[in-house]
Amino acid sequence: MSTMSLHTLSLRAVLFLGLWHTGWRGLASAAELRDQPKKIAVVGAGIGGTAAAYYLRQEFGPGVKIDVFESGTVGGRLATVKIGDYEYETGGSVIHPLNLHMKQFIEKLGISTRKDVSSKMAIFDGKELVFEESDWFIVNFLRMLWRYGFNFLRMQMWVESILDKFMRIYQYQQYGYSFSNVDRLLHAMGGDSFLTLMNQTLEETMIGEGFSQIFLNDIVAPITRANYGQSVRIHGFVGAVSLAGADSGLWAVDGGNKRVCSGLLYHSKSELIPARVTSIAVKVRPSKTGTTASFYEVNYVGDSGSAHALYDIVVIATPLHQGKSDITFSGFSPPIPTHYPGRYHQTVSTVVHGRLNVSYLGTTEPASEFTVSDILTTDSNGSVVQSLISIDPVHIPTDYKRPPASHPRVWKVFSPQPLSQEQLKNIFLSWDSVSETRWLAYPAYRPPHRKTPPFILHNRLYYLNAVEWAASAMEMSAISARNVALLAHHRWHEQVGKIDQEDLHTRLRGEL
Ligand SMILES: Cc1cc2nc3c(=O)[nH]c(=O)nc-3n(C[C@H](O)[C@H](O)[C@H](O)COP(=O)(O)OP(=O)(O)OC[C@H]3O[C@@H](n4cnc5c(N)ncnc54)[C@H](O)[C@@H]3O)c2cc1C
Ligand SMILES: *[C@@H]1O[C@H](CO)[C@@H](O)[C@H](O)[C@H]1NC(C)=O
Ligand SMILES: *[C@@H]1O[C@H](CO)[C@@H](O)[C@H](O)[C@H]1NC(C)=O
Ligand SMILES: *[C@@H]1O[C@H](CO)[C@@H](O)[C@H](O)[C@H]1NC(C)=O
Repeated sequence: MSTMSLHTLSLRAVLFLGLWHTGWRGLASAAELRDQPKKIAVVGAGIGGTAAAYYLRQEFGPGVKIDVFESGTVGGRLATVKIGDYEYETGGSVIHPLNLHMKQFIEKLGISTRKDVSSKMAIFDGKELVFEESDWFIVNFLRMLWRYGFNFLRMQMWVESILDKFMRIYQYQQYGYSFSNVDRLLHAMGGDSFLTLMNQTLEETMIGEGFSQIFLNDIVAPITRANYGQSVRIHGFVGAVSLAGADSGLWAVDGGNKRVCSGLLYHSKSELIPARVTSIAVKVRPSKTGTTASFYEVNYVGDSGSAHALYDIVVIATPLHQGKSDITFSGFSPPIPTHYPGRYHQTVSTVVHGRLNVSYLGTTEPASEFTVSDILTTDSNGSVVQSLISIDPVHIPTDYKRPPASHPRVWKVFSPQPLSQEQLKNIFLSWDSVSETRWLAYPAYRPPHRKTPPFILHNRLYYLNAVEWAASAMEMSAISARNVALLAHHRWHEQVGKIDQEDLHTRLRGEL
């Protein structure tokens, strides 16, 4: 027998047993020989839902049918608007260089990163610019040192130490480990210190670490306001994620971040069902072996009216919160609420093509020489704007040059409330287009931390967006998607040894 046919034979045997993709993990136990699930539903086609479809395919192999329900547009909070000839991001826009799942997705899908356009930051206190970045690194460094002592360097070290622990999740997931709730996942990464971060405000945490109040007000608050629309009273964990979002090397997806979602959907060979899921009920039916089996009945409304279908496993990949989704759960004991406690913060994204009124920023620089692109704001009384950023198209043409501030260009204003005509008139001298998107963007983070919703709502019913209460970001949804896919796999095959293991960091240390 040639090696070729030996190879085909073993491949066929593997496919026959339905073990393809589950790899060695499956061969170890007899429980693996249990039937594979036949149908899986994912509710929501944002980055969370589409990444879940991708990882579920990886865990359960080619045999299972995966349906992804989406009531709006694929991408969810990753979305673009068209202004003139170009598209611009209105929702989630930047990705950290160490967000490994997002990185892996674009490599797998053959999408490139967007070309970099240099940016320059300033901080506005409602009256004037209190800090303006120079083109010279050394000038910035000395200014920071002069005003804030070593706070700035210490902040980078503090964020890096948290990021170091955060990165452990990738190794755990590579080895197939999963967690049943957000607290356990955080604890596996950073131990008790991560849970304490969730339970204190960023302000308390940083003051406790010896940072000055002035530094918090002048530098940290503008960053949390730009990234989460909230003050330094958000909890320490999401605060650290927010500060990491001010690192250098941030990137975006060429052609728009939402491309990753449609790419994952396609790659996972799942079916997109354009419909709104209205309710999910648990149904018990006799099975062919004489025992009973339970299924989830997913009820939905699409263009052609309402319908329902039965699934073995369901993943909810949209926030179960007021204003975000309205799904009723019936037949569950204990009951599953339509909305969990806590609310989502509104961030209105207003994309304006126009000429900035530079005197609004209290600067005397002529507009033609004003090169600042990213204006962050302090938490001063009555400041209506969270951030004001000059943005570039999702695809940068080769001859692209950002126009000077004296010319019309595209600005993105984040504010908690829609901007009135009066406010727009104050900020801009003139404009020819305004496009407003009102997002219920991310949780309103208010420590001390209440119990976060679980990842497991019922035996085979999972909830991905629970993770947003630790921090809301594309990568967090991707990490949660992988976790939920692993959980679904291990629980289906009764491999409890891969769930909620303690002390993974020490145990896996030798494996690197
Ligand atoms: C303005 C803004 C700026 C941001 N900036 C960044 C950033 O720079 N970097 C970053 O990493 N993150 C950022 N984020 C956060 C990031 O966008 C989100 O964390 C992430 O996109 C969430 O993805 P998701 O798939 O979990 O949820 P979503 O994207 O909300 O997806 C849920 C999907 O479910 C659908 N749905 C809801 N109910 C139903 C139903 N009943 N039936 C069927 N479908 C349903 C919705 O239509 C939606 O498409 C930002 C968010 C906003 C709003
Ligand atoms: C968080 O703080 C509350 C009270 O402030 C306390 O009851 C709870 O145990 C704390 N949780 C953690 C995980 O530290
Ligand atoms: C520009 O902003 C300044 C300061 O807020 C304001 O006084 C002025 O009226 C604005 N200019 C225009 C043309 O609106
Ligand atoms: C903020 O403004 C309100 C009214 O505009 C005023 O009552 C309050 O004292 C101000 N607070 C601070 C801290 O300046």
